[in-house]
Amino acid sequence: MSSNMKAIVYTEYGSPDVLQFKDVEKPTPKDNEVLVKIHAASANAADWHTMRATPFLARLVNGFFKPKNPRLGSDFAGRVEAVGRTVTQFQVSDDVFGSMSLNELSSFAEYLCAREDTLVLKPANMTFEQAAAVPLAAFTALQGLRNKGQIQSGQKVLINGASGGVGTFAVQIAKSYGAEVTGVCSTRNLDMVRSIGADHVIDYTREDFTNNGQQYDLIYCAVGNRSITDYQRALKPQGACVIAGFTNLRLLFEHMILGPRRSKAGGKRVGLMDTANGNKKDLAFLKELLETGKVTPVIDRCYPLSETAEAIRYLEQGHAQGKVVITVAHNN
Ligand SMILES: NC(=O)c1ccc[n+]([C@@H]2O[C@H](COP(=O)([O-])OP(=O)(O)OC[C@H]3O[C@@H](n4cnc5c(N)ncnc54)[C@H](OP(=O)(O)O)[C@@H]3O)[C@@H](O)[C@H]2O)c1
Repeated sequence: MSSNMKAIVYTEYGSPDVLQFKDVEKPTPKDNEVLVKIHAASANAADWHTMRATPFLARLVNGFFKPKNPRLGSDFAGRVEAVGRTVTQFQVSDDVFGSMSLNELSSFAEYLCAREDTLVLKPANMTFEQAAAVPLAAFTALQGLRNKGQIQSGQKVLINGASGGVGTFAVQIAKSYGAEVTGVCSTRNLDMVRSIGADHVIDYTREDFTNNGQQYDLIYCAVGNRSITDYQRALKPQGACVIAGFTNLRLLFEHMILGPRRSKAGGKRVGLMDTANGNKKDLAFLKELLETGKVTPVIDRCYPLSETAEAIRYLEQGHAQGKVVITVAHNN
């Protein structure tokens, strides 16, 4: 017998006004899947880029004229309610967290089905809200710093956009690798960025990190708002700049097309990181950082599932202080 659940659904691309809070069919797990009763989810830039189909290339992923997948939400934390026939690593009542890939977004809902190889147990010292705040933003920070940036202990690392969803993880993950970290943020966020471990902070409203005479081994830019020449000026001779953020199409194309060419010319590499890839190995690595207190999610605010449109509207303004979380209440 099928039953229903509440979920956020959209049938056309556009502003958060297209998001509807509706009854949809509750999913049933396939053999290798786990049915998770979601207690919290978190919002990411990927949600509003997908919802608006911006940049235009997003239409190649989720349908040219209208969304093929009418659901949003990658990150989630919740309790296992049922397991498929071949699932071996989880059982009913386990608390888990994880993320859905960009073509399977669906965590803004009361339930979802996830493959067991995408989940790990929720750290016991974290709330569902804290755990749900982690996956996609922390994957982006970890994979940018470690895979593309090849971060090493003792390096001077600068995080631009240190106060946002990705930046707050990047500061803490860079510290966990033994780097000397400088966080760039606005005046109101200086104390928060210091409190999560930054050794130095730069207020971007008063000082330009690309023009103050300082140079870094590694720049991780979660904003994507500077030219290649600017980044190179702030890099040591063999330094690297990894860009995760997207500000406008002109800079995106400059970073994408000219970055690799200009990087060949000198020792200073500047380039876009790949789209973050959710995977169990990295989630287990992050879980350990969470359990040992090396990383603590920064949560800006929480919205109930029915107000997801408001949460996305807030996130889109580009001034979140850490993560924006969606809480999912269940009546029973
Ligand atoms: N490659 C990938 O797979 C991937 C994955 C996730 C996200 N991303 C991209 O990463 C970027 C950051 O995502 P997010 O989730 O961290 O965004 P977010 O949570 O919306 O954070 C934006 C932050 O940027 C700060 N900021 C704005 N202008 C700034 C400036 N000029 N200098 C320094 N900081 C500034 C804001 O602080 P103030 O309020 O103080 O200005 C805010 O804290 C987005 O462009 C997103 O598309 C890429």
